[in-house]
Amino acid sequence: MENISLNFDKTLSFISKDSVLAYKSEIETHNKALFNKTGKGNDFLGWTNLPSSITEAELADYEKTAAKLKAKQIDLFVVVGIGGSYLGAKAVVDALSDSFAHLKGGKNPLIVFAGQNISEDYLFELRELLKVKEYAMAVISKSGTTTEPALAFRLLKQDIEEKYGKAEACERIVAITDAKRGALRTLATSEGYKTYVIPDDVGGRYSVLTPVGLLAIAVAGFDIRALVKGAVDMEKASGVDVPFEKNLPAQYAAVRNELYKTGKKVEIFVNYNPKLHFLAEWWKQLYGESEGKEGKGIFPASVDFTSDLHSMGQYIQEGERTLFETVISVASPDREVRIPIDPDNLDGLNFLSGKRVDEVNKMAELGTTLAHVDGGVPNIQIVMPKLNEYYLGQIIYFFELACGLSGYTLGVNPFDQPGVEAYKKNMFALLEKPGYEAETKAIKARL
Ligand code: PA5
Repeated sequence: MENISLNFDKTLSFISKDSVLAYKSEIETHNKALFNKTGKGNDFLGWTNLPSSITEAELADYEKTAAKLKAKQIDLFVVVGIGGSYLGAKAVVDALSDSFAHLKGGKNPLIVFAGQNISEDYLFELRELLKVKEYAMAVISKSGTTTEPALAFRLLKQDIEEKYGKAEACERIVAITDAKRGALRTLATSEGYKTYVIPDDVGGRYSVLTPVGLLAIAVAGFDIRALVKGAVDMEKASGVDVPFEKNLPAQYAAVRNELYKTGKKVEIFVNYNPKLHFLAEWWKQLYGESEGKEGKGIFPASVDFTSDLHSMGQYIQEGERTLFETVISVASPDREVRIPIDPDNLDGLNFLSGKRVDEVNKMAELGTTLAHVDGGVPNIQIVMPKLNEYYLGQIIYFFELACGLSGYTLGVNPFDQPGVEAYKKNMFALLEKPGYEAETKAIKARL
């Protein structure tokens, strides 16, 4: 099977190949530390060998649960979660789904999300929808205490019990959380929900290949075996003894660190297929939460091209020269659309007649890359041969490993997120949560 490929030739007018190769020894050491679980944050390194340790029995179990839920003729599967308990499933499902699945319908339920925001309008509108649809639900939280999904689940739990009765609601809810800790574990045990455990040593943003992502992806009708196989193959292709010259995540980590050192502080994740929008969101969480600490880290941003060439293109071409781009390019589209000839040629587009739309998209990509490089924006290209489960599995593992390597190279612990607590502390203080009396007093004095 082919692999995804990495091309950083278009960074080499900004950094030298030698400066990238100079990372070889350091990154090979970091790779060993990750796979041998001896590096910083080593209690969260379960993801390194996660793909190859997923068993046939586990996959069959997720598929069986998905089939059982789908046998209830559900229109929707509601996934309640935020951050790593949301973005991985959303990224994969969106990448693989028909762009208009929500309007066309189909044999698989649509996956909708809740608990990924605290918008009253969103929750109201979702609950209205759920009144008239058949559905089941997964509630996902590794800590089991995150406010956004807990709040959404409190509402949705009442609704589902009202609609189907308590016993049937229990059959329609799956809880995915820590083995022992957290309010969600307590609640799931007390209600008797089917549960799956998120391994202790796999952090939220690294959890897409656990039931956190795999159950919803299976419910959506996609092939979780191919997804895992892609990740297993990338795990093997970049494992502990794979030299730098053959290790794509290692090279990506080196290139981005070298660019960062030369003042390129913002990495823009670029796609030319809107189905990849949420892959970028997943990637932003992975890199932003892993690297943005101790006053350091590349700022992860994203654009959908060519749409955003008509909004962000000007800045990328001529704004602050602190940017570089990482483009995810899909070599072959799934569908074929050819541009027809028009005898009148009033729109002047006959020079494109007979071409596939993707040929135009690819020339837009090439033309943009060249223009941006000319404008001072280095360009890394990652090519997926096709947009399917297998290559998504490869790309997920590629970015996970590269993120760990990159974080170690930057000198931070990529597996914690101490900064996420600051907003929660203020929010709880403002909401006068019991136990936050001193913080409430202090914050109110500032208002
Ligand atoms: O990567 C992480 O650990 C976090 O971003 C979490 O995914 C996010 O905060 C959600 O946490 P939880 O799954 O505990 O509700």
